[in-house]
Amino acid sequence: MDGQATELNKTRLPQHLAIIMDGNGRWAKARGMMRTQGHHRGLEILRQTVRDVGELGIPNLTLYSFSSENWSRPQQEINDLMGLLKYFIRKDLAELHTENVKVRIIGRRDDLPDDIAPLIDEAESLTKDNTGLTLMIAFNYGSQDEIARCAAKLAQQAVEGEISPDDITPELIEKNLDTAGVPAPDMILRTSGEQRLSNFLMWQAAYAELVFIDCHWPDFNAQELHNAVAEYQSRDRRYGGVKEGAAS
Ligand code: IPE
Ligand code: IPE
Ligand code: MG
Repeated sequence: MDGQATELNKTRLPQHLAIIMDGNGRWAKARGMMRTQGHHRGLEILRQTVRDVGELGIPNLTLYSFSSENWSRPQQEINDLMGLLKYFIRKDLAELHTENVKVRIIGRRDDLPDDIAPLIDEAESLTKDNTGLTLMIAFNYGSQDEIARCAAKLAQQAVEGEISPDDITPELIEKNLDTAGVPAPDMILRTSGEQRLSNFLMWQAAYAELVFIDCHWPDFNAQELHNAVAEYQSRDRRYGGVKEGAAS
């Protein structure tokens, strides 16, 4: 690629990159297009990003595709977004499987439309033994809902005598979140200039490096990805500790 000032350190790549793909609507509006056209273009970028992230060697990728709060959008836009998810799974699942991608969907399942739930199950069961990139799609996802569902599950286990309240540790909570088994994101990237999490991976973000870039999601590309990972690599991660040799 041309114009890349910083070489990436391949030994210090994030092991889990999570992306808030934002700005489809504003991208479309700026071009006099419908919001849905921004979402269509956004899906193409999603596809390309899965490839780019895999090629870079990042093993876990989470993409925020529909939040529990996005149901408050106009019904037509919701229909378009549901249609795109279905289209993505139907059209891309076979190829993702061929590329050894393991697909997981995180988010609330019990209130999903009838034509979506079976597709999600199929995507997960077909690819469950794959050993390449783990791709988590956050769909009908909200952190507060995820944590509340986790709390309810543990409370039920306590009522049934399977665990005692003292057993509830951060590790046990992690094992009961939708993201169980996948390391917490090292890096959360949000496009479109907004600087907030919007209910995304709030537990898991405890020590994530947050990277905010101005580009709208439909303009995201390999160069933007490279620059964002370079920004991540410039950060000093301390986890509350003190660096060896730091001035006292
Ligand atoms: C992100 O783009 C896609 C979803 C939230 C589904 P937006 O639709 O939020 O676009 P903006 O933020 O209105 O520009
Ligand atoms: C977050 O973006 C959700 C997704 C990208 C799927 P929003 O556009 O819904 O977030 P807010 O409303 O700007 O916080
Ligand atoms: Mg938005």
